[in-house]
Amino acid sequence: MQKLIVGNLKMNMESVSQRDTYCKELKEEFADLKTEHVIALCPPTVYLEHFTRIFSKMPVNIGAQDCFWELYGSYTGNTSPKTIKSLGAEMVIVGHSERRKYNHETNEDIAQKVAILLRTELMPIICVGYMESDDEMDSVRKQVEIIVQNFTTDDMENLVFAYEPVWAIGSGKTPTTDEIHTMIMFIRSIVSATHGKEVAENVAILYGGSVVAENVTEVCTNAYADGVLVGRASLSPHKFAQIARMLK
Ligand code: PGA
Repeated sequence: MQKLIVGNLKMNMESVSQRDTYCKELKEEFADLKTEHVIALCPPTVYLEHFTRIFSKMPVNIGAQDCFWELYGSYTGNTSPKTIKSLGAEMVIVGHSERRKYNHETNEDIAQKVAILLRTELMPIICVGYMESDDEMDSVRKQVEIIVQNFTTDDMENLVFAYEPVWAIGSGKTPTTDEIHTMIMFIRSIVSATHGKEVAENVAILYGGSVVAENVTEVCTNAYADGVLVGRASLSPHKFAQIARMLK
């Protein structure tokens, strides 16, 4: 089954020469890669145009790491989803735990971003898992509920959830296969309560947090994730391509 493999490059490749080296290596790695899966990369916003141009003839989709909830106006320093779209990107990560932590983004902010993204026909990848209470399930439930209750059944087809336990991000540690599967089923049960079983079975749910080539098959096949959100390993073109190669 087709999976979605998304690389989140975060605030890296700080110089243009680092960016150019990365793109050159990635092009080489992906030149002979045959995969039925969907590959996407989310570079820093200022590099979006460069990435969409460089990878336009390759099976690599481009996304942004965040956006604002309005299309234009006096919002200094923010980026319009319309700009992201016109640069050729196709998806946007929202609600990453690092944005919830360092930019104090709330579930309401994230729901507003999802609304504008759907209007702009960009696919939101909604990260859930950041702990707002002592209880992870309680946090995930609130983060998912605000989305499922504010959006239509049709919208559910055009968005993706990414379950990312905050402690697994960048730590080299991952939950067990059973734990990932339990959370994925938990998210599906929340979707089901509002939109029914069929929609819940079809909504795409990724896993993110220390994904590498060695664990991607376990995550996607045995824990039934619809794909992965990859941070650190996507910074190495070789490791990122290995992840895609591992998934049969
Ligand atoms: P990681 O990051 O793969 O480095 O754990 C995942 C993420 O932050 O999305």
